[in-house]
Amino acid sequence: MYSPSGPAARRARRAPRSVVSWTRPRAARSSSRSMADMLPPHPLLPSAHSSWRYPATVPDVDELQRRFRSLAETAAPRAPLYSLLSSAIAEDREVVELLTAAPATQQAPVLLLAATHHLVLSGVAPDLAVHYPNLNGGDASASDPWPAFRQLCSDHADDIRALVATRHTQTNEVGRCATFLPVFAALARETGRPIAHVDVGTSAGLTLLWDRYGYRYQPGPSLAADSDVVLPCGVRGDAPLPDALAPRVAGVGLDLHPIDVTDTQATRWLEACVWPDQIDRFHRLEAALSVARRSPPTIVQGDAVDDVAALVRDAAQLGHAVVTTSWALNYLTAERQAEFVAVLDAVGRDVDVSWVAAESPEQTPGLALPHPPGTEHLTVLTLRTWRAGSVSTTALATAHPHGYWLHWLSQPT
Ligand SMILES: C[S@@+](CC[C@H](N)C(=O)[O-])C[C@H]1O[C@@H](n2cnc3c(N)ncnc32)[C@H](O)[C@@H]1O
Repeated sequence: MYSPSGPAARRARRAPRSVVSWTRPRAARSSSRSMADMLPPHPLLPSAHSSWRYPATVPDVDELQRRFRSLAETAAPRAPLYSLLSSAIAEDREVVELLTAAPATQQAPVLLLAATHHLVLSGVAPDLAVHYPNLNGGDASASDPWPAFRQLCSDHADDIRALVATRHTQTNEVGRCATFLPVFAALARETGRPIAHVDVGTSAGLTLLWDRYGYRYQPGPSLAADSDVVLPCGVRGDAPLPDALAPRVAGVGLDLHPIDVTDTQATRWLEACVWPDQIDRFHRLEAALSVARRSPPTIVQGDAVDDVAALVRDAAQLGHAVVTTSWALNYLTAERQAEFVAVLDAVGRDVDVSWVAAESPEQTPGLALPHPPGTEHLTVLTLRTWRAGSVSTTALATAHPHGYWLHWLSQPT
């Protein structure tokens, strides 16, 4: 019997209240190149980020059918497989009903599709796997995937119900490191200290490992291009691209639901949440996970607001404390977002800190961060610094939500 539950986040521990030394030995680099290395330099992909927020009232099957029809329409231009499957699911009430095992707020079509993708990745549905572009070498299958999908839903209905009841969609997008890198380099230069990194909403902690990846800015420099994971990033504007990685002394992640990179059930779920049509993204995640497994990141289980202060105070003793948040604070209510800023403001009165946010202004109103007009729906890279108690906040750039491009603002806001 397939079991969806695993020893999630075995490595995680509760948030500490005292000084910790987070540094782990750095993994050796291999000279082989990843699938990501073969990406074109300017893949101006549309945003694939979906922030599903449904009301707590239990939806009926008619409403869920409407949600699948809507996904079929919106996914059509960029995710033909999920568009096609969503259309077919919408007309099959028995399959739609599987999603009712999820908590009301989680009843998003993408959750059911992630559950079925998880089963496909676990190898129980080879007839369906041949239709998944991430598993069939990118072949846009001409034959109809629906009969094999329907069969999987019949054969594994209980497994699907168990997955949607216990999991929520979760991602970890390593490409965002390419947008952080120029800021880290500038901060290390300014402070004369190595980066002590605290990543809030870290998921599996993959963006903590920015010094193990390679980067190919276009136009611009290539850095550590012999890494197993090389991140391409198209650049516009006068970005201060570094010619070397900033020194990094320590890194720790904080997450309510951390993912342990050594737990294959947990990482399979992370992979299952990537849409199969996003082939490069899927393989990039696989490559980043194998880099991470060689020397797993340190992750603390805890809440962004309640537990960040202790980690930042520890970081400030190890190097220059840099907090990052990327597509994480949109999970908090506006009130909690404001509390997050207040917590950092309180720490910043005592120690020098920098916070680099890659968030969507329209989804993080409580942060009240500055952004140029017309950018509220984009990912805005913002830097807030506390130096000797004095606060300064600047919107630096807009970015692709997965870091495929960076547009440096000519007049930082
Ligand atoms: C979309 S993922 C982004 C992960 C990562 N920052 C990245 O850029 O790939 C959002 C993460 O925030 C975490 N999260 C949500 N609410 C949180 C909270 N209150 N405290 C800590 N982490 C939280 C989720 O568990 C999830 O791992």
